[in-house]
Amino acid sequence: MCGIIGFTGNIPAKDVIIGGLETLEYRGYDSAGVALLCDGEITVRKRTGKVEELKKLCADMDNPATCGIGHTRWATHGGVTDVNAHPHRCGQVVLIHNGIIENYRQLITEYGLADDIISETDTEVVAALIDKFYEGDPVKAIKKAVKVLSGAFGLCIMFQDIPDTIYCIRNVSPLVAATSDRGSVIASDLTALIAYSKDYFVVPEYHLLTLTKDGIDVRDMKGNEVKPQMLSVNWDIASAQKGGYPFFMLKEIYEQPDAIRNTVAPRVMDGMPDFTDDGIDDSVFENIDKVTVIGCGTAMHAGMVGKHLIEAKLRIPVQVEIASEFRYKNPIIDEKTLTIVLSQSGETIDTLEAMKLAKANGSKVISIVNVKGSSIARESDYVLYTHAGPEIAVASTKAYTVQVAAMYLIAARMGVVKKLVSDSETKKFMTKLINTPNIIEETLEGANDIKRVANHIKLSPDAFYIGRGLDYTMSLEASLKLKEISYIHAEAYAAGELKHGTIALITENVPVIAIATQEDVYEKVISNIREVKARGAYVILISMDEKVDDVKICDKHIRIPKLDPEFTAFATAVILQLIAYYTSEAKGLDVDKPRNLAKSVTVE
Ligand code: M6R
Repeated sequence: MCGIIGFTGNIPAKDVIIGGLETLEYRGYDSAGVALLCDGEITVRKRTGKVEELKKLCADMDNPATCGIGHTRWATHGGVTDVNAHPHRCGQVVLIHNGIIENYRQLITEYGLADDIISETDTEVVAALIDKFYEGDPVKAIKKAVKVLSGAFGLCIMFQDIPDTIYCIRNVSPLVAATSDRGSVIASDLTALIAYSKDYFVVPEYHLLTLTKDGIDVRDMKGNEVKPQMLSVNWDIASAQKGGYPFFMLKEIYEQPDAIRNTVAPRVMDGMPDFTDDGIDDSVFENIDKVTVIGCGTAMHAGMVGKHLIEAKLRIPVQVEIASEFRYKNPIIDEKTLTIVLSQSGETIDTLEAMKLAKANGSKVISIVNVKGSSIARESDYVLYTHAGPEIAVASTKAYTVQVAAMYLIAARMGVVKKLVSDSETKKFMTKLINTPNIIEETLEGANDIKRVANHIKLSPDAFYIGRGLDYTMSLEASLKLKEISYIHAEAYAAGELKHGTIALITENVPVIAIATQEDVYEKVISNIREVKARGAYVILISMDEKVDDVKICDKHIRIPKLDPEFTAFATAVILQLIAYYTSEAKGLDVDKPRNLAKSVTVE
C-alpha cells in the first residue's frame, strides 16, 4: 500500500515524479505529495485526494530540480488530511514511507520527539529520528534510526544540505530500482520504472541505497558494496496504460485470453503439463497426502476453484485458508502437506507471513505469483509465475483467471506424478485448458447483454449470488467484486442454504444472480431459484442452456458456452466480472480506484 517514487538525474524531476505517481496511484489514493530538492532548498507540496489534485496544486510550480521524491497514500496511522500526507519534513530531512512503524509511539517517548512532530503519522517520527541523529553523515544517521525501527518500511530520504541525492532502505515493503541515461529511479512498483528502463533490481532488505544521477550505490549495513541481481521486465509500457479502454479493469478483463495463453502454453510439453522451466521438481508432489492453499480475497477464491478440481479429480484433501487467519493458527500441516500460496502482487503481508509459518512447519511451498521478484516469489520454495502482465485496477480480474489456470496446471501435474490420472486423460484435460482462452473470447462477445443486467442491479442496495459446488465458489468471488467496485451490499450463498435464514431478505425486485453450470446439481439450483422467484426476486440466471424462456425461473438469462463442468469457471468468471464492472460504471463510480482500497495490501 502507498506508492513511492524517487528520481535524480538530468531532467526535471517534477514531471517524472508526478507521472510516476499517476501509475502508482492504484496503491493508494487518499492523498499525494511531492518534494523537490534544488539549490539547498527542499520544496514540499502535498494534499488530500488523488494525484489529479496534486497535479493542480503543482501546476504553477516552475521548479528546475532534477532530484525529488513523491508519494501516494493509503492511510493507516492518522486520518486523511493534508498534514498527514507525505512527504514529511523534520529539520534537514524530508522523507516518504510505505509500511507501518509499529513502535512509533515508543520512539516518540524514548527520543523526546513529541515537540518535533505535527502529524498523526508513524512516518513523521522516522523523519524526526533521522534528523535527530544527523550530524552531517546521512548514512550514519539512517543506519542508527533504522536499527531502532520495528515494522515494515520502504523509505526514500532526502537531506536539505546534500544535493541531488536520495537515500533508500527497506524492510518487507517493496522497492525496485533502475538506472537509465536520464538518471536513477526507485519506486514501490515496476510500473513506475518501465518508462526509464526494462532492467531493474529488487532492493535487498536492510541495504542502503544512495541514488545519484550517475548511478545507484548499494551497500549492506556493514558498508560492503553489493551487486544486486538484475531482472528484466517482459512487458512494455503499453501494458500499463489504458489503451483506449475507459478503465483498466475493462482492459484487463479483455486481456484474459492472452494472459491465460501466456501462462499455460510455456508449461505444456507434448500435450502434458511440464514444470521443468520453473524448476519445480516432481518430488514436490510425490509424497504429499494433502494440500493447503493460502491467499487473501480474490487470490484465495482462485485457490477455492483449485480445491474443487484437486479433490474431485485426485481425491486429495485440500484445505483453503484465509492468510490473515492462518498466520495466527497452530496449523495442522507437516512435511507431507504441499502448501500453495496465491498472490498477484506477491507482497500481501498476511499471505507472506502465512507462507513463512507453513514453511516453518515443514511444508514445501509453491507460490503462484504475478509480480516477478516479489517477496512471496523470493521466499517460497518454488514459484509458478503467472504471466498476466501488470494488473492495475484494484479489482482483480485477469490475475484471478490465470491463478485458476495455474491451479489447474498444478492439479494436472500432480495427477501425473502420483499416477492418479492416466497420460491420455491428462492430455485431454490439457487440451481443454489450452482452449480456455477461446472460450473466454466467445464469452466476451456477449458483453453488451450484460450491460442491461447491470442497469437493473445498479438500482438495488443489495444483491445475492447463489450457486452450488463450484458455482458457490464463483458466487463468493462475484459478490466480493460487486461490493468492492459498486458499493452494493452483496452476499454469496450456497443455493441450498438460503432457506435456512437468508431467504428472509429476498423481497420484490431484489437481484439474485443464480449460477447453474454444474450438471449434477443443476435441477437443485433451479428449485432454489423457484423459491426466490416466488418471493419476488429479479433473477439473473447464468447457465449453459441454449435458451430459458420460463419467467418462473428467471428474468434474464446469460448463456455461457457448452463446457465440461470443471471448465465452466473461466467463462462464468468473465460474466461475473463484467456484471460488477458495468454496474460500477453505470453508477458513475471510479471503477479502478474504489474507495478505501489499495491494490497491494502490505499492512496487516
Ligand atoms: O496481491 P494479492 O493477490 O495477494 O492480493 C490479494 C487481495 O488483496 C486481492 O485479491 C483483493 O481481494 C482484490 N482487490 C479483489 O479484487
